Amino acid sequence: MKILAIETSCDETAIAILKCEGDPSSTLGAGERNATFTVLGNALLSQIEIHKEYGGVFPALAKREHAKNLVPILEAVLEEAELLHEDTQAIPEEVRATVSEILAREPGLTEAFFEFVSECETPDIDAIAVTSGPGLEPALWVGINFAKALALIWNKQLVAVNHMEGHILAALAKESTNTPPFGTRLNLVINGVELPVLALLISGGHTELVLMKEWLEYELIGQTRDDAVGEAFDKVARMLGLPYPGGPEISRLAEQNRASRRRLGTVSEGAEEEHGSAIILPRPMIDSMTCDFSFAGLKTAVLYLLKKIPDINEKEKQHIAHEFENAVTDVLWKKTAQALKETGAKTLVIGGGVSANTHIRRVFKENISREFPDVSLNIPSAELTTDNAIMIALAGFYRASRQSQPAGGSTDFIANGNLSLAKKP
Ligand code: KG4
Ligand code: ZN
Repeated sequence: MKILAIETSCDETAIAILKCEGDPSSTLGAGERNATFTVLGNALLSQIEIHKEYGGVFPALAKREHAKNLVPILEAVLEEAELLHEDTQAIPEEVRATVSEILAREPGLTEAFFEFVSECETPDIDAIAVTSGPGLEPALWVGINFAKALALIWNKQLVAVNHMEGHILAALAKESTNTPPFGTRLNLVINGVELPVLALLISGGHTELVLMKEWLEYELIGQTRDDAVGEAFDKVARMLGLPYPGGPEISRLAEQNRASRRRLGTVSEGAEEEHGSAIILPRPMIDSMTCDFSFAGLKTAVLYLLKKIPDINEKEKQHIAHEFENAVTDVLWKKTAQALKETGAKTLVIGGGVSANTHIRRVFKENISREFPDVSLNIPSAELTTDNAIMIALAGFYRASRQSQPAGGSTDFIANGNLSLAKKP
């Protein structure tokens, strides 16, 4: 089946079309988990430059930008997928009225929408998947309403997707060179996934450990009690005078500090990280018995530290970034290791924007091969780490055969900013 997927949960407007092969509803052992995907079209427009001056994502602005970008992105993606065929499409009055109602709260979108759909054939796709949560509700609504309007005009199945499930599946998908060649198209495969899967989801809004005991059924193992880890990166970056988003900025400074220490060549990386820095930040809840996290104290510790350094220089910023990143990584690893032991998970997945972090990726790879050699570690490729629509299509494929139910949600296609994958048992 061909799925058109739409993602607008935060500050990226993304659309992708995937050809999906496999039987997502198979009850034959692991059959339902196996599928191959060809990315026929994929486009993403990041709003980071627009939100930068506000130091974070500004929901009303995100909504406006999504509304402006959706039609041009859809056109580009259909074209790339060779599914765009010009034709005049007469839209019956009553359908036009319903669609106008659906899009009434998305100023600027209605006119572009009608202009586009009345000039092209219904594309050869089977379903439209859209993120219904979690995320910023005004931003989510634009994508949902756009998807609803398209599904109505083109008479397609509508599938609501949980954004976090998308992050998990993106991590489980591997680039494939075995599937038939489709020119330069990206081929992905999900197969051989050994259950249970433990997922560490780390993004701007989430920090949680989720267990998938049965395929696509989730149990919450641990979560942050205050700030999400990406939020902590962004806030600390702001305190250091670095632009939004802060994660990549902190990572850059921390890596510079590691490199300059290595250049000094006096101590190995491990030893220097234990003893070499005069700056020591706390590792909140690291020794607690739960798999929950807390990052607010770490952020406050940086704030107090900065008060003692009024004229901070670049080197001191690098030091703080380095120690902050080490503290976060230590906590993430310790809790993940604890959860792996408690659950006996055979597969570990790391997903969400923060999983782009070089240091976190490196530490997890090293520690897994040393301490849990039988656990298979899955981290998404760089392209699939940040929010994108490919991951929404992957989840949409598996959800399409499950009565359009988003994980943890309802079939009503409403935006749910707090949609969660699982409740604590
Ligand atoms: O998943 P995502 O793209 O959006 C949300 O759903 O939140 O995650 C965005 C978060 C931001 O907080 C950003 O600072 C963080 O991911 N991030 C990073 C890195 N790249 C992005 N954090 C640490 N290191 C990075 N390299
Ligand atoms: Zn995300």
